[in-house]
Amino acid sequence: MALPKGFLWGGAVAAHQLEGAWNVGGKGPSVADVMTVGAPGVERGITDGIIEGENYPNHEAIDFYHRYKEDIALLAGMGFKCFRTSIAWTRIFPNGDELEPNEEGLKFYDDLFDEMHKYGMEPVVTLSHFEIPLHLANEYGGWRNRKMIEFFVRFAKVCFERYKDKVKYWMTFNEINNQRNTESPFLTFTNSGLLYKEGEDRYQVMYQAAHYEFVASAIAVIEGHKINPDFQIGCMIAFCPTYPASAAPQDQIAALKEMDRTYVFADVQCRGHYPSYILKEWERFGTDIRMEPEDLKIIQEGTVDYIAFSYYMTFTTEYDESNVRHLGREKKNPFVKANDWGWQIDPIGLRYALNLLQERYELPLMIVENGIGLHEHEEADGMIHDDARIEYFANHITEMKKAVELDGVTLIGYCPWGPIDLVSAGTGEMEKRYGFIYVDKNNKGEGTLARKPKKSYYWYKRVIETNGENLSKEIDVPV
Ligand code: BG6
Repeated sequence: MALPKGFLWGGAVAAHQLEGAWNVGGKGPSVADVMTVGAPGVERGITDGIIEGENYPNHEAIDFYHRYKEDIALLAGMGFKCFRTSIAWTRIFPNGDELEPNEEGLKFYDDLFDEMHKYGMEPVVTLSHFEIPLHLANEYGGWRNRKMIEFFVRFAKVCFERYKDKVKYWMTFNEINNQRNTESPFLTFTNSGLLYKEGEDRYQVMYQAAHYEFVASAIAVIEGHKINPDFQIGCMIAFCPTYPASAAPQDQIAALKEMDRTYVFADVQCRGHYPSYILKEWERFGTDIRMEPEDLKIIQEGTVDYIAFSYYMTFTTEYDESNVRHLGREKKNPFVKANDWGWQIDPIGLRYALNLLQERYELPLMIVENGIGLHEHEEADGMIHDDARIEYFANHITEMKKAVELDGVTLIGYCPWGPIDLVSAGTGEMEKRYGFIYVDKNNKGEGTLARKPKKSYYWYKRVIETNGENLSKEIDVPV
């Protein structure tokens, strides 16, 4: 028993978190360019435009835009078979509502994809990864506005046409379900470029935006297949399974209802219709989603080819009668540990997640994010001894293999998040490090930007070389 031949081992990033060059090559500002630095447990600020003197970590990020050749060579050194990144919408359409794309932006991704192919690395590309043009957020209210469908579809078609012979695997919207938590304005801003207005029904606004995104995603799938029938176009879900806190029957229902809040986003995109539980919920809460007559047909015809998902953690919930919407309240799970940011580390949860998705949808799956943020520094011998990362990946890959080899899950690939240190999406920190490659830069933006392989670099290289067979945590590093 082994992982299939041709399994896509790689890593994943997003344009705004590593490219930098935020206003270079005709690029316009995106929502990520008005977000400041937060801290563990502290969300990032969103400023009204770009304010002199504020620290905007995405403006420079790790300057991948100018250093991508060096970085792709380093990733190739680990034997990457694929590399997931996003196309910054604002490099192609700086404001988002132009009719003609920006050639310099298109050329950048041509060169980047060519560089990957030089090393036999398959590009895996997200179209919208938390980097909506700021102009669309400011002038149109982001995805609360139906006109976004037209802008997104134009962007998607330009990318599909231009890279039809270079990119096979696409995703429409990154972690589209993050916005389900309407308490955080930050999540809706990054997902949909919209900020809630005082007193409005956030739940309704969120589902309205999601509806437009579902239609846009389905049109992209339909149009993409016309451009190249071999395209594999997926949805992308943040998948954090929720366990019931106990064997009490009401805790099962609370966990089930919590899961529905995630499933609904995958159900629509994979099954092509709104599930009955959400229609009932909308009825109960008087939620009125505006739909054009053709929308449901488009959603039905534009179902995705595969499911891409991120897996970082699991949650636990217990029944809470006072929570009229979801019946549960989050509870600490005593069986799992967490990192410095409180993200629970649960390798078995990955096997569980893979099984849940396989059984529910019977579609090919791709893990397009998984990883651990750690505080790290160079030690006396000049090496970054990130044994905690090796431990994390060894345990997660072990469970991933069980899902494939024992449970029969169809898995296309595995892309750990941030194979090179980059800006955290949630906190804007550089010092929440995910990489196999260290980047010399701190939270204040200071550092030389020099790159350096960590101990885990050599470890993951061997994992890829052996197609996941050698997961021993011992590894020699060059001196
Ligand atoms: C996912 C996102 O939410 O998790 C990434 O798709 C993000 O963009 C990753 O970077 C890790 O989260 P964070 O907040 O630690 O960067």
